[in-house]
Amino acid sequence: MLKCIERKKMLSEENKKRVEELKRRYPTSQALVLPVLWIVQEQEGCISEDSMKYVAALLNIPFGHILGVVSFYTMLRKEQTGKNHIEVCTNISCMLRGSAKILQHIEQRLGIKAGETSADQKWTLSEAECMGSCGTAPMLAIGDEYYEDLTIEKIDNLIDKLK
Ligand code: FES
Repeated sequence: MLKCIERKKMLSEENKKRVEELKRRYPTSQALVLPVLWIVQEQEGCISEDSMKYVAALLNIPFGHILGVVSFYTMLRKEQTGKNHIEVCTNISCMLRGSAKILQHIEQRLGIKAGETSADQKWTLSEAECMGSCGTAPMLAIGDEYYEDLTIEKIDNLIDKLK
């Protein structure tokens, strides 16, 4: 995957206001780490090292702690992704209901392997841990959208629609 592009600017004025609003609702700076990182990711598409330093200074929390949080949560992206970031759940429920075949089919359709971004930057394909949708496994996510009870036909329709 591509390295997350280093930030040139801070949060937008609108997002700074969102952080100020959150500060009123959360009891400690520690509790703000995840929501603020999420806002950064929404704005930038991923979280660079400079962004982590920015958040550390903003919340007065050691950089090492922010780095640890970003490294731990797969939902926080350290790399730039393509226009469509397909995350295929390969955890236990999805695995038992055929996620390996789903992933393999998507790899063939897009011509990239899990963990890669297409040369035209249109697609990024990732394996993901459980996204809490086990009852409708196998599933994948693209951004905030979940696609569930997947079949090869549904995958083909989805990729054709997004092409
Ligand atoms: S195992 Fe795939 S959503 Fe839970």
